[in-house]
Amino acid sequence: MDRLKDKVILLAGAGGIGTGLAQRYAQEGAKVVLGDINEDAARQVVEGIKASGGEATALLLDGSDEESVNAAVAATLNAYGRIDGLHANFALMADSNPMEGILELPLEVFDETQRINARGFYLCTRAVLPTMIEQGSGSIVYTSSAAAYSGGAAFVAYAMSKAAGQALMRHVATRYGPAGVRANTIAPAMTIHPALEEVLPPAFIDGAKAAACIKSRVGRPEDIAAMAALLMSDEGSYITGQVMCVDGGTIIRA
Ligand SMILES: NC(=O)c1ccc[n+]([C@@H]2O[C@H](COP(=O)([O-])OP(=O)(O)OC[C@H]3O[C@@H](n4cnc5c(N)ncnc54)[C@H](O)[C@@H]3O)[C@@H](O)[C@H]2O)c1
Repeated sequence: MDRLKDKVILLAGAGGIGTGLAQRYAQEGAKVVLGDINEDAARQVVEGIKASGGEATALLLDGSDEESVNAAVAATLNAYGRIDGLHANFALMADSNPMEGILELPLEVFDETQRINARGFYLCTRAVLPTMIEQGSGSIVYTSSAAAYSGGAAFVAYAMSKAAGQALMRHVATRYGPAGVRANTIAPAMTIHPALEEVLPPAFIDGAKAAACIKSRVGRPEDIAAMAALLMSDEGSYITGQVMCVDGGTIIRA
């Protein structure tokens, strides 16, 4: 469990899955810098990590704002002198109303979704790449979604933004692989965490179980974190340019 010993990981986006990611990265020995637009949420996670003996720092980060992203990268470099991993995990999911398809969804919601999810991942990537290129090493992980390729009657803006993130990942893997930078995407389907459990009707969770090959449970942040830790570690050093579906077989992609 020390595959990430001394690695510095900037994790953008706390929340349900982000909490699991931060905890796992720290358990494996990484120094975690956790940024979120909700700084209190990030701080709470960091306090928990510190209480269990891990190393982590919280900061305010608006992943869709260039200045804020650059400041987070500068703060990470100031504290640790390097960045081994970037995990872009935050998202806006404002178009989940099943009554709203392309004809009904307000254009402002579409624009805001692309601004945060697609442009935000682009900004975070741009901000860390020069450091990783100079180091000759780095691993970038993006949290995407099965929505990027599954089709659906809702979530049109979100699905498009997640597909954009996958295109970004392929670009980074191809262009900066020779410089030692790897880029990969994790695509979860339904992943239950406390905030979701509070709002989702049990029937929704049963539906997610029914849709997957694994029926005994739904996905949890720990499942995403296990894959992320591999991708951040040297054990994952020959994996790049991939979309890793951690979804219990909800969508079986060739
Ligand atoms: N939970 C699921 O079922 C599921 C399924 C597929 C994909 N995903 C993806 O997993 C990731 C995490 O999802 P989650 O369920 O943990 O969501 P969540 O809402 O619990 O966490 C998202 C976090 O992102 C933060 N955030 C939002 N905008 C931000 C910004 N501009 N800058 C910085 N932080 C910002 C929020 O404050 C929040 O802490 C997302 O990318 C999501 O699309 C989740």
